[in-house]
Amino acid sequence: MTGSVGAPAERREGLEKVGGTARYAAEFHFPDRAQAWPVPATVARGRVTGVDTAAALAVPGVLTVLTHENAPRLSEPDDPTLALLQDPRVPHHGWFVALVVAETLEAARAGAAAVRVGYDAEEHDVALTVSHPGVHVPEEANGGHPAVREQGDADGAFGSSAARVDVAYRVPPLHNHPMEPHTSTARWEGGRLTVHTSSQGTGAVRAVLAGLFGLPKERIVVTAEHVGGGFGSKGTPRPDVVLAVMAARHTGRPVTVALPRRYLPAVVGHRAPTLHRLRLGADADGRLTSLVHEVTTHTSRIKEFVEQAAVPARVMYDTPHSRTVHRVAALDVPSPSWMRAPGEAPGMYALESAMDELATELGMDPIELRVRNEPDVEPDSGKPFSSRHLIECLREGSRRFGWDGRDPRPGTRRDGPLLLGTGVAAATYPVLVGPSTAAAHARPDGTFLVRINATDIGTGARTVLAQVGADALGVPLERVRIEVGSTELPSAPLAGGSSGTASWGWAVHEACARLARRLAEHAGPLPEQGLDARADTEGTADAESDFARHAFGAHFAEVAVDTVTGEVRVGRLLGVYAAGRILNARTARSQFVGGMTMGLGMALTEGSIMDAAFGDFTESDLASYHVPAHADVAEIEAHWVDEEDSRLNPMGSKGIGEIGVVGTAAAIGNAVHHATGVRFRELPLTPDRVL
Ligand code: MOS
Repeated sequence: MTGSVGAPAERREGLEKVGGTARYAAEFHFPDRAQAWPVPATVARGRVTGVDTAAALAVPGVLTVLTHENAPRLSEPDDPTLALLQDPRVPHHGWFVALVVAETLEAARAGAAAVRVGYDAEEHDVALTVSHPGVHVPEEANGGHPAVREQGDADGAFGSSAARVDVAYRVPPLHNHPMEPHTSTARWEGGRLTVHTSSQGTGAVRAVLAGLFGLPKERIVVTAEHVGGGFGSKGTPRPDVVLAVMAARHTGRPVTVALPRRYLPAVVGHRAPTLHRLRLGADADGRLTSLVHEVTTHTSRIKEFVEQAAVPARVMYDTPHSRTVHRVAALDVPSPSWMRAPGEAPGMYALESAMDELATELGMDPIELRVRNEPDVEPDSGKPFSSRHLIECLREGSRRFGWDGRDPRPGTRRDGPLLLGTGVAAATYPVLVGPSTAAAHARPDGTFLVRINATDIGTGARTVLAQVGADALGVPLERVRIEVGSTELPSAPLAGGSSGTASWGWAVHEACARLARRLAEHAGPLPEQGLDARADTEGTADAESDFARHAFGAHFAEVAVDTVTGEVRVGRLLGVYAAGRILNARTARSQFVGGMTMGLGMALTEGSIMDAAFGDFTESDLASYHVPAHADVAEIEAHWVDEEDSRLNPMGSKGIGEIGVVGTAAAIGNAVHHATGVRFRELPLTPDRVL
């Protein structure tokens, strides 16, 4: 071991990024490149009756207008949101009904504004309520989780509990809004297709394009060298890549499609709204006797996507009786999809708020309540945990935050017009991993090259994988080069589900360890072509475990609520995590702090309104959908406990990309209750609600 892993190594591409030379998908300036601008539907349900393109084609620089009548035909996609310009139906407002291709971005935009679309509009229905007649229990929730799980007699036990909490919460639709909107540049050359795209995983993009355009995978190259964030919305191919390839095929020129920010909410997925009902029963000592978490959410007419928000309630607390239920209604809304910590983020907001309400009901410290309900095994599966250090996180957080001696009485601390309070909540996220391949190469000059189609979406994946490789090789970090972000490299899964580093790192570790063995056996100087080793973790990294594997954490928040304006300011956020071995102290801290910042947005400002008449989201840009800006974020601290877990992967790491956003909003909401004495059960906690 050379000790690279764990060190706070700086991002390898950091200088390129701050210097502006890192190339993103829109920045492939081929001399004859055209630009395209889509035209979104202005009805929420119906059919296109005609597209008048004459005025658009008359705009100087416009090359063509693609519609369902002239666009290249696609094979039927597995993902219905990619069946673009194939037929006249409009499944939701904002669905693309035309694409204008032009010499310049300005001409494409002017052309798109000049396209006249006729519709046969039908009545639409976008309003989710728990009693909506379309609400039903689906086959399963996302991630293959059963929609319903029951143990014992949850209702009976709840009815006879000494302490009870029966509450409803609402989390609104949320948008991913990565800094770089979804963008692709496509180029056809002699029956070969090259695509530069902003994606969390180019392997999936290539597979989908091969299917849609009937092309062997070998004739497609997809790269994602630098990606300006995704937060789940770039985990699967989006309309930009399909439209860019169509337009390039139709015009014979390279084409860039950079989706306008305001079109994203309707076409790249969103976190679906979730309506929660929680019933917690406990005995007088605070031991849970019953836990019921029921979630109602929406999906679109074309795709079933069921946010698995009751799943964390199957992991967290010991109770003899429980029921967790997912229900869904298909409405005329845009298709929801993955958003950072899908399931856990909204689910733990509700569960951890309800736990706080139960602590209040019992007159018990909320940390003590969680300690009393710590399970020996995973409550739902009965499996032992590979490691679980939730209590250590709560205790360490309590010490660092200064929780001891907290006066539990709500609404009693004042500073002029401000009411002050503190809150705590737990966090959890599953440990996911997938099979991957990687190649390692030793050069005669003593340097090494690691190649893997990992994607660095801004997390520092390149850097961390080089650290893993350097340690497996037993060489200093500077001697290891790394290539990621292209389907020309050994295949690897996407950056999603907080699984990237574990999945890729496993293969990188194996390839480099193998190469180290080959080098040890090699006598004399290396041949000019060097030495190579490869690894494929298929059959190893995806093996079903006998253990329940999850990361855990604790979030603490300090708030000031302005009684004059209703504004909530978070003065301090502190997180402590137990997430296995931390592979890079610098990039890990950024991941945790980034997740907590997203949780801060979820608590205070982020929320989208599905307008019933208009049939679409009202907030579609960063002016109306407010993500935290620097002025919103005061002090955020992230810490971790040393956790050794040999049942994960050769690095001993758990995922860290998503757990930061889990429970943060509950900690803030609980602090607002402590400050004001009022329970707000609907996010975000904007002044109009709080005042
Ligand atoms: Mo994450 S929502 O799995 O990219």
